[in-house]
Amino acid sequence: MQDLSASEIESILDAAASFTASKPSKALSGRVVAFLFSEASTRTRSSFEIAARRLSAEVLGFSIASSSLLKGESLLDTIKNLEAMGVEYFIVRHEVSGVLEPLAPATKASLINAGDGAHEHPTQALLDLYTLKQKKGSLKGLKVVILGDILHSRVARSNIHGLKKFGAKITVCGPQALIPQGIEELGVSVSNDLDKALSGADAVNVLRLQLERQQQNFVTSLKDYYASYGLTPERLAKIPDCLVLHPGPMNRGVEIAGDVADGPQSVILEQVANGVLVRMAVLALIEQWRAHGR
Ligand code: CP
Repeated sequence: MQDLSASEIESILDAAASFTASKPSKALSGRVVAFLFSEASTRTRSSFEIAARRLSAEVLGFSIASSSLLKGESLLDTIKNLEAMGVEYFIVRHEVSGVLEPLAPATKASLINAGDGAHEHPTQALLDLYTLKQKKGSLKGLKVVILGDILHSRVARSNIHGLKKFGAKITVCGPQALIPQGIEELGVSVSNDLDKALSGADAVNVLRLQLERQQQNFVTSLKDYYASYGLTPERLAKIPDCLVLHPGPMNRGVEIAGDVADGPQSVILEQVANGVLVRMAVLALIEQWRAHGR
C-alpha cells in the first residue's frame, strides 16, 4: 500500500465493484495459482482461493508443512521450482517483514503479499477501504480510529498508507506500549484515551490484541485492557453512525465485545465478503498488467 498510488488503488476498488454480481470470469483461465503460507490464515487464504477459482485459475494445493522448505530449501528455490512447473501466481504469507521484495526480481511469476511480518497486509487494507467507501460514499475527510495493538500490526500500517492517500484523518489509539515510536511521521494522530479518540469517529478499525506476544507484558492484564481499550456497547452508543471494522481473527471480550462484533454498526462480515471481490480484482488486474509487460 505504501508503493501504490491513489489512482492504482482506485483502479483496484473499481475492478472489485465490477465483480459484485459474482459472475464467474475467465480472466485467469489456464493460469496456476499457488499458496505459500508459513503463518496461519482463515480469511485471506480462503478468499484468495475462492477468488482464483472464480477467475477460472487452477489452484495448486501446496502445503508448506509437507514441502521441502522444511528440509532447508529456500523460499526462492521453492518459487523457482514451482514456476518451472507453470505456476505464475504465488500468494505468500510469511513471518518476515519485506520477505518478497528481494525475491521479486529473481522470478517472472507474480508474488502477492498476503501479510509479511509486522510490515504490510495490502489486500486487507484494500478490502477495508472498499468497505468504508461502499458504506460512507467517500474516504475523503473520514475520521478513522485504528484501535489496539498497533505495534505488531501489518493491518494498521497498510490501512494508514492507503487511507492517507485519500485524505482520511486517522487516529491510532492504544496503550503507549503498543504504539510504535515515530508513527506520527506517517501522518496520524496518537491517543491513549479511547473515549476521546472515538468522539466524532466515522469508523473504528479494531485490531486483534496479539496474545501470543503478550508474554512481554505489553499490557498489565486482559481485564485492564478491555476496561481501557475494549470496544464496548456503552462506548459505541455515543457514536451511532460509527462503523465497526475488525480484520479478524477476533478475541471477543478482549479488544471487542461480542455484542459489538455482532451488532448493527459492525461491518465485519461484509469486510470478509468484500475480500473475495478485492482479491479477484487484484488477480485480474495483475493478469492485465502482465499482458502489457508490467
Ligand atoms: N485478516 C486476516 O488476515 O485474517 P486471516 O489471518 O484469517 O487470514
